[in-house]
Amino acid sequence: MSMRVKFSCSLVFILFISFVGVQWVDPFEDDYWAVIFSFIGSFHPLLLHLPIGLWFAVCALMVASVLVRDAVKKSIIYALSVVTLVTAILTFSAGFILYLGGGYGRATISLHMYSSFAFLISLACFVICYGRSRRATFEWLTAGITTIVLCVAGHAGGVITHGDPLDKAPWRIFAERAEQDSQPEDMVPSGRVFHDLVVPILEDKCMACHGSERVKGKLKMTSYAALIKGGSKGACILPGDAAGSLMIQRINLPLDDNKRMPPAEKKQLSLEEAAFLEWWVSAALPEEQMIDSTILPLEQQAYVQSILGNNPMAVQARAAKTRSKDLLARYADFQTHYPGILVQSVVGEALFELSAASLLGYDEASVRAALRPLADSLIRIDWNRRQLDTEWAKLLSTAGIVEVLNLSNSSFTASDLTLLLSRMRELKKVNLTGTDFSDEQIEGIRANSSIETIVLTDTQLSELGYRKLRSYLPSAEIISNYSM
Ligand code: HEC
Repeated sequence: MSMRVKFSCSLVFILFISFVGVQWVDPFEDDYWAVIFSFIGSFHPLLLHLPIGLWFAVCALMVASVLVRDAVKKSIIYALSVVTLVTAILTFSAGFILYLGGGYGRATISLHMYSSFAFLISLACFVICYGRSRRATFEWLTAGITTIVLCVAGHAGGVITHGDPLDKAPWRIFAERAEQDSQPEDMVPSGRVFHDLVVPILEDKCMACHGSERVKGKLKMTSYAALIKGGSKGACILPGDAAGSLMIQRINLPLDDNKRMPPAEKKQLSLEEAAFLEWWVSAALPEEQMIDSTILPLEQQAYVQSILGNNPMAVQARAAKTRSKDLLARYADFQTHYPGILVQSVVGEALFELSAASLLGYDEASVRAALRPLADSLIRIDWNRRQLDTEWAKLLSTAGIVEVLNLSNSSFTASDLTLLLSRMRELKKVNLTGTDFSDEQIEGIRANSSIETIVLTDTQLSELGYRKLRSYLPSAEIISNYSM
């Protein structure tokens, strides 16, 4: 056997042994070697350009020597391919050392690692064939395979560091946009606690080291299941037991503790985020728990509002929901103390109608006190044949969404009525029949452009006043002694 063949055989043997190594070796857990290996490994991205460039140079020279007979000496191409092989081995070793330094999960790198290894083998075969120069067919065949394998390895490597370039392909981007556009708007607010509140914190503060690419402490945080599974020290979270959860223990360690997470020199969790994570673990919520149907303690409510603040619809929907729950509870309470005064407009909704006729016999001051928190949810007020004193006028002027106001045959002062009308901007129907309503009070109505019907029969309104009112409310139906 010639020297060259022996060399080649031992090379293939060494490659085989390292392949076995690649199969079984796992990244270092220990901090000392991990640091050193990570440093050596950091040369991998630098070195990797050498074998790629050199290999394509070899290919180019081969093609050139076919196009122009003997333009390039065979020995030059051979020498260049040997140099390529050497740099490829160095690059592979650096890459492997980088992997041993930890931070990259096996799943992430396996395609890159195995295809790079295949590239080494294939390149070695090429060098051997070319060196023995028996048959040109073998040379071209191995060169072709080497090129293909190199492309696969290079692409897989690129995906690890830069993500899949095809993600930016125009057809994918357009398809994504179309999908976003077709989602109905009102799906946005109903987020999930884990997906929309917990994951963003982890993504921001933890996943750089506990994501799918770098997996420190063998801990991935990419899914709920992954958190339960945990890392080298077991489960990362124990739902229901915050103090016993590794994650909560680690984030609460003092900054100078080297087990502190995130490590001191990295971007830290805010106090609110840490408190939220702790609450979330202790609440033992299922993965699919909706934000809307979660009872949040006060400080978490503030946090959640601040997060969903980017999404005004979500905040509104949430606020309306908690508000109406709260209001319905107050309504129920009011109802047990003062039955008959308030009626719910629609079952299940916090919108009420007030009927003054039922006030009889109650102490009005205490009714007002109980009604105060519900006043801005009144949509209809029936104040028929009663006196509306200033105290009541003050309270009812906070009823900003009233649509129907019936003051027929009741008494009130001009200024109290003006106060009421100036605040009730949603008024659609107003009944003032049989009252002292007079021309002086017309100005008070001017601002209520939403009025559709106003009844002013049997009042002090003059014909002049009526015309004036007509001009203020051109499209409303004004029922008065003059309009007949
Ligand atoms: C800069 C990198 C980095 C960041 C960011 C980081 N960690 Fe770590 N984490 C590590 C390293 C390295 C280890 C392994 C060494 C150790 O256990 O301290 C680790 C280990 C852990 C462990 C123990 C895993 C086990 O089972 O051994 C937990 C739990 C943990 N991290 C939680 C977190 C949380 C929660 C965050 C975000 C708030 C976070 N880490 C952010 C680097 C990081």
